[in-house]
Amino acid sequence: MSFDLKHLPRTFDDLVIADPLNATVIQQYCTQPPSKPLLLAGPPGACKTEAARVIAYSHFERHNIQHMHWEFNAASLGKDYEAKIMAEVNHQMFANPDRALIVINEIDEMDLRSVQPKFREFMDAKRHLIRFVATTNHKSRIMSALLSRFRLLDLDPPSSTDWVLRALSILHAEGLNPDRQDVTLMLQSFDGSARDLIDLIEETVMASKAIKQ
Ligand SMILES: Nc1ncnc2c1ncn2[C@@H]1O[C@H](COP(=O)(O)OP(=O)(O)O)[C@@H](O)[C@H]1O
Ligand SMILES: [Mg+2]
Repeated sequence: MSFDLKHLPRTFDDLVIADPLNATVIQQYCTQPPSKPLLLAGPPGACKTEAARVIAYSHFERHNIQHMHWEFNAASLGKDYEAKIMAEVNHQMFANPDRALIVINEIDEMDLRSVQPKFREFMDAKRHLIRFVATTNHKSRIMSALLSRFRLLDLDPPSSTDWVLRALSILHAEGLNPDRQDVTLMLQSFDGSARDLIDLIEETVMASKAIKQ
């Protein structure tokens, strides 16, 4: 398995969230989710999709829910979103009284005029059956009547300081033993995206293994 896939976040503690208040809300959605649908907004690399996934994993685990295809991208969902989503909802709700959970990434990709108004009606009609978690890079492209259905959380990309503890735990999982100060130094001059950061950690691991050999 590739390094980045191996270290994808699995639980809330693995997530890197810049603002502690936002982290509190995400934690709440992982443990005792409010009934309001959640929309994670912000630029690419703000860890929106990973946070949405961790909320979904937590829900499936808590209720022991069997699931198949629970994560969609609005760009490929198309106009027959209802059939695709309801097939999954029925699957999740088989032998399970709790609501199904559906993640929709890039929800702004739904056409503003032809799809968003109908999707809003769909959300209202199914709110007793479905928990929605959505992400967007462009919340301004979402009609206000749809936007207002969600608890909106604006996420900023984490800074290199925000990544220190996560980087430390990945390095420990790889059998290295740096302390917090080493990792702070390593990330001090780092100024790239979350993806670049995972690559940097991988390079560090490879370099250290090469030295040991
Ligand atoms: N806590 C984390 N640990 C490891 N990798 C992460 C973590 N959070 C995000 N990533 C990786 O960083 C990248 C950006 O995260 P992502 O959730 O896709 O951002 P967004 O959806 O906001 O654009 C992805 O490659 C993701 O797998
Ligand atoms: Mg995303």
